[in-house]
Amino acid sequence: MSSQPEPCVLLLFGATGDLTRRKLLPALFQLHLRGQLPQHFAVLGASRQPLSNEQFRTLMRQACIAFCPAPPDDAQWNAFAEYLYYEAGHFSDPTLFQRLNMALRDIDHRHHTRGNRLFYLATLPSSYPLLVKQLRDAEMVNRAIGHPFTRLMVEKPFGRDLASAIALNDEIAAVFREDQVYRIDHYLGKETVQNILVLRFANAIFEPLWNRIHIDHVQITAAESLGIEGRGAYYEETGVLSDMVQNHLLQVLSLVAMEPPLSFDADAIRDKKTEVFKSLRRFYGAEDVLAVTARGQYGQSLDGHVPGYRNEPLVDPQSPVPTFVALKVFIDNWRWQGVPFYIRTGKRLAQATTEVIIAFRQIPFCLFGQDQVCSRIAPNQLILRIQPHEGVSLAFGVKAPGAETSVDSAHMRFTYGTHFDGAMPLPYERLLTDSMRGYAALFARRDSVEEAWRFITPILETWASHPPADFPNYAAGSEGPTSAFDLLARGGRAWRPLGEG
Ligand SMILES: NC(=O)c1ccc[n+]([C@@H]2O[C@H](COP(=O)([O-])OP(=O)(O)OC[C@H]3O[C@@H](n4cnc5c(N)ncnc54)[C@H](OP(=O)(O)O)[C@@H]3O)[C@@H](O)[C@H]2O)c1
Repeated sequence: MSSQPEPCVLLLFGATGDLTRRKLLPALFQLHLRGQLPQHFAVLGASRQPLSNEQFRTLMRQACIAFCPAPPDDAQWNAFAEYLYYEAGHFSDPTLFQRLNMALRDIDHRHHTRGNRLFYLATLPSSYPLLVKQLRDAEMVNRAIGHPFTRLMVEKPFGRDLASAIALNDEIAAVFREDQVYRIDHYLGKETVQNILVLRFANAIFEPLWNRIHIDHVQITAAESLGIEGRGAYYEETGVLSDMVQNHLLQVLSLVAMEPPLSFDADAIRDKKTEVFKSLRRFYGAEDVLAVTARGQYGQSLDGHVPGYRNEPLVDPQSPVPTFVALKVFIDNWRWQGVPFYIRTGKRLAQATTEVIIAFRQIPFCLFGQDQVCSRIAPNQLILRIQPHEGVSLAFGVKAPGAETSVDSAHMRFTYGTHFDGAMPLPYERLLTDSMRGYAALFARRDSVEEAWRFITPILETWASHPPADFPNYAAGSEGPTSAFDLLARGGRAWRPLGEG
């Protein structure tokens, strides 16, 4: 991996869309402020809206005022705005691609970007196959290894199920080599998610404990306090499994569970992640699926102020779409045999929290005699806080002061906010610079995407053929449906309460 991002033009399909304005433009501007963009760089936006370069720059400035961590000052913005260009047209129109080709050549000449291209599909997933075909037909893709390079960045969702994911991957593979494809999972851009590997492999003390001998179970929670934020049409088609689990949470699980890679090379890491996906225990029929999953949909809050999912705009008043899921997952390999991984995620929960809990086994024998002391000894927990209050903490037993032997649980805490100066980089900053460097470790490879769908698709199918009888089954603002608590209680375990310090 070269450390310097290479000269290139970022060709952004969907340049007026929500993702560009909310995430990509702020990330690019932050990189500009940090001096981390390539020395020779430009952005060429493409969308339907008829805009001149100047109008596009104004639109992007408005986006930065709304979504950058701090509003841009004039000098900073003007220097950045010189990199921004725009071409209007419909993706189905071949002449758009002729014009883009001409614009790219002009930009190469002006900005010394050397013919290197980063195509970013920041638009509706239904347009991906068309865009890939148009790029090929306009001879904009260089499949040869080396320079000038052509890379394709693809936003989730990568399909709706296994069959559609394979079809999309085949369409991309007809035009691009797999190592030219950068599938974005913005969770992998988060510092705290990347820290899972650093914590495991930059410390000698954790890895010897990281197995079925010492770990009782793992919890992965991504709780959102927000609802669907006006995206009813999208959510009705997607649901919680495809929106959160197939991609983000299985990616997190793979980082927690993977074997040590041979190196930090992209494929060395991705090989080990794919092994985890291949080891996920498969389901034997619908009963098996229903026994290890709990699904939920939020109703209105107990105080009546927050509407239920079925009352959101563009949502069917009888919708069976789940907004919450809890899963019990096993990884059938030597390291993890018998260790349940519990995953839960949902909307409109009591607290917004994303964290991984490594729950160690209980002590084998209590020395301290009295029942009331022994029963208070909580097993150790290593807590990886992904957001908010990003950091790591370790819960362990200590003697409470006093004449009697009494054990209390204490926490050793590290937080990014107090240990490091400055704001955390935005996830898309890292993903954009890695794609400019040609370093693909933080991007999902074809095999892992398909393996994840192979695991998730039977759940989707079982849920579709066994509609929920009890929706809505949790109140907005609560900790989720009781079935999620039962899932752990059956194994004598409990979820860590949301938002516990
Ligand atoms: N929004 C987010 O925060 C977010 C987060 C994660 C992932 N994503 C993913 O990112 C992708 C884009 O989402 P989004 O929310 O940005 O969508 P969006 O707001 O609907 O934006 C779509 C963009 O594509 C353009 N476009 C659509 N059809 C076109 C066509 N036929 N020809 C030319 N331009 C066309 C639109 O341009 P016009 O306005 O000119 O029509 C607009 O710029 C999706 O795959 C989504 O799943 C989004």
